[in-house]
Amino acid sequence: MEEEECLSHSSPSTDNSLELRLQRVTAENIKTVRILVSSIFPVSYSDKFYQECMNNELTGVVIRNGEAIAIVAVKPENFETGRVLYIRSFGVHPRHREAGLGSFLMDFVDEKGKLLKLPHAMLHVQTSNKTAIEFYKNRGFNVDCLVPQYYQRCSPPDAFIMRKPFH
Ligand SMILES: CC(C)(COP(=O)(O)OP(=O)(O)OC[C@H]1O[C@@H](n2cnc3c(N)ncnc32)[C@H](O)[C@@H]1OP(=O)(O)O)[C@@H](O)C(=O)NCCC(=O)NCCS
Repeated sequence: MEEEECLSHSSPSTDNSLELRLQRVTAENIKTVRILVSSIFPVSYSDKFYQECMNNELTGVVIRNGEAIAIVAVKPENFETGRVLYIRSFGVHPRHREAGLGSFLMDFVDEKGKLLKLPHAMLHVQTSNKTAIEFYKNRGFNVDCLVPQYYQRCSPPDAFIMRKPFH
């Protein structure tokens, strides 16, 4: 298999033996990326989402031993409150959590936000997802508002919008 293109973002891992590296989603790794996404999130992502993620510098995946173990995907979006860097997907495989990978993904969000000169990052999170809400709060996000019935096929269906300023 060809080595996937490496994105600029990399840092030493909390596991001393491994360096963390974000790669692009490519035709070679899309299968393991799909497996990761379906194992992490209760919502299913469309083929369009995966197409948009491929060879896109605003999406990064961590691949270890041929297996995708973390994903981050962001996109500039216009909302009523203005233009933001929207976090479309953000997750770590359950076996690899609490080892600094989520923080590493957040560095990528910050890097892209600054590069694109966007004032805020924004995301939707299921109201029951206490771990993620706490994780985001610890990294400068605040709950902005509640969006009832945001998710069509999840229980609970409600989401919080969380935002954080880049400056
Ligand atoms: C939210 C999520 C991305 C966090 O990922 P993660 O890899 O566990 O994140 P980190 O390891 O960087 O940090 C999580 C906690 O682990 C702990 N931790 C981090 N590195 C550690 C280490 N080396 N040793 C021990 N504990 C560590 C920290 O206590 C940290 O908590 P903090 O917020 O107090 O700093 C992950 O739980 C996840 O994928 N959840 C499911 C998907 C999801 O809900 N995504 C959000 C949708 S909106």
